[in-house]
Amino acid sequence: MSLNKAPKNHVFYRNQNWNYPKIEKGEGIYLFDEDGNKYIDGCSGSAVANIGHGNKEVAEFTKDHMERIAFTHLSRWTVDSIEKCAEKVAEWAPGDLNHVYFVSGGSESTETAVKMARQYFVERDGNKTTKWKVISKWNSFHGNTLGSLSMTGITGRRKIYDPMLINFPKIPQFYHYRNPWGCETIEESSIKAAEALEAEIIRQGPDNIAAFITEPVVGSAAPGVHPDKIYFKMVREICDKYDVLLIVDEVMAGFGRTGKKFAIEHFDIVPDIVTCAKGMSCGYTPMGAAIASEKIFNTIMVEGSGHFVHGHTYAGNPLSCGIAHKVIEIMEREGYVENAEKQGNYLMEKLQKLYEYPIVGQIRGKGLMIGIEFVKDQVTKEPFDTSVALKNKVMVNCLDKGLVIYPGGGSADGVRGDHILIAPPVNITAKEIDLLFDALEAGIKKTCEEVL
Ligand SMILES: Cc1ncc(COP(=O)(O)O)c(C=O)c1O
Repeated sequence: MSLNKAPKNHVFYRNQNWNYPKIEKGEGIYLFDEDGNKYIDGCSGSAVANIGHGNKEVAEFTKDHMERIAFTHLSRWTVDSIEKCAEKVAEWAPGDLNHVYFVSGGSESTETAVKMARQYFVERDGNKTTKWKVISKWNSFHGNTLGSLSMTGITGRRKIYDPMLINFPKIPQFYHYRNPWGCETIEESSIKAAEALEAEIIRQGPDNIAAFITEPVVGSAAPGVHPDKIYFKMVREICDKYDVLLIVDEVMAGFGRTGKKFAIEHFDIVPDIVTCAKGMSCGYTPMGAAIASEKIFNTIMVEGSGHFVHGHTYAGNPLSCGIAHKVIEIMEREGYVENAEKQGNYLMEKLQKLYEYPIVGQIRGKGLMIGIEFVKDQVTKEPFDTSVALKNKVMVNCLDKGLVIYPGGGSADGVRGDHILIAPPVNITAKEIDLLFDALEAGIKKTCEEVL
C-alpha cells in the first residue's frame, strides 16, 4: 500500500498523498475494492456502519420510501417517518431526554446543543442573561465546523483556525493514563478531572457558563478513554450546583457502540442534552440529533417563545429519519447492543496479548469502542516523534493484512502521541473477531519490527 500517490480525478480529498483504494461494495463487516481485495472494516468508517454494510432490509425500505416522497421541509410539514424516528430515539435515550431535534451530522448536533443551551437561559432569564460560555476539554473532539471546533480540544485540528474560534474555556480530560495530577488510580484521577470543572466554573464565574460538554467515552481524540463512575456523578452535581447544563456528546459512542444504548448509561446519570449522529443511521444516509430533556424543551417551547431560533434545510429529512428508525429497529430485534458488549469483552480479552509488543502503551475502551495508544517506552510512556508517523505505519501495515483501523494523533501533548480506534460493526461474530485480531497483531508486529 503506497502512501505517496496523488489521485488523478476531480475530488478534493482530505489527503493528496494517499492512494485511495476504490471500494466497489460492502457486505457485513467487509469492504471489497475494485481489485478484488477484501478488508475487514475494523472501524466502521469512523464508528458509523454499526449494523454493517449492504443491509438488504435498509435498502428495500429506502427504495420504497424514495418512490413515495423526496423531501419535505420540517418548518411546514410532518411525516410519519420523522415522528416514528423521534419516538424510537426518545425511547432509547435515558431519563427524560424525550425531545429530538434532528440534524444531519455530528458537528451540527453539538452546535445545536450549544444554541439550545444558550436559548434555554435567554428564555428562562431574559436577554440580560450573561450565560453563554461552554466549558470543554483538551483531548476531546466535538466537530470541525467553527462552533464545534471551538469546543474541540485536539490542538492539531484547531491550530490554523485559532483566530476564527470562540474562546471557550478548556479543562483537562479524564485521561488516567496521562493524568497531570500523578494519580495512581482511575478513581483518583476522575475525581481530579471533575474538580477541574468546578474550579473552571468558579474562575470564569458561574453567571457566564451555559454548559459543559463531554464525551462519555472519548472518540478520535484519545480513543476508548473513559473515567470512573465517580466522574459523572460529581459532574452532574457540579453542573446542578452552578446552574450549568450538561451536554453529553454521544456522536461516536451512542446507539449501541459501547454495549449500552447510550454510553452515558455506564455512568448512571442523565444529562440535559445528548448529541448523536454516526451509528444512528449507520451511514446509510447522513443523520444526527440533539436530544433535549423535558426541562430544556418546556422552557423554550412550552413556557417560552415556542420557537427554537435555529434550523437546517435537511433537519428532519424524512428519508434519513426513516432509515435511522429502521436501523434502530434492526439493532433492537437482532440484539446488537448486547452483541457489542459480548464481542467487545471477547476482543478486549484477546487484545491483552498485544502488550507483548513494546510499542503498545495502553489498551482501553468499552464494548466495541476500543483504543490502542502507542509509545516509544512502555514505562516512561514517551510518545514517538511525529517524524516517525507511527499511526500511519500501523494503519498501512494493518491494511496490508486486510484490516481497516482508524488512526489518530496528538493524544500525548497535543502534537505527539499515536493511537488507533478499533470499532467494527456491532453485528460482528466471535469468529470475525478472531480474524480481526490476527490481522491487527500482524500489523502491529510488523510496525514494531520497522521502528525498533
Ligand atoms: C464525539 C464526536 N463529536 C462530534 C463529531 C463530529 O461529527 P461529524 O464529523 O459528523 O460532523 C465526531 C466525529 O467524529 C465525534 O466523534
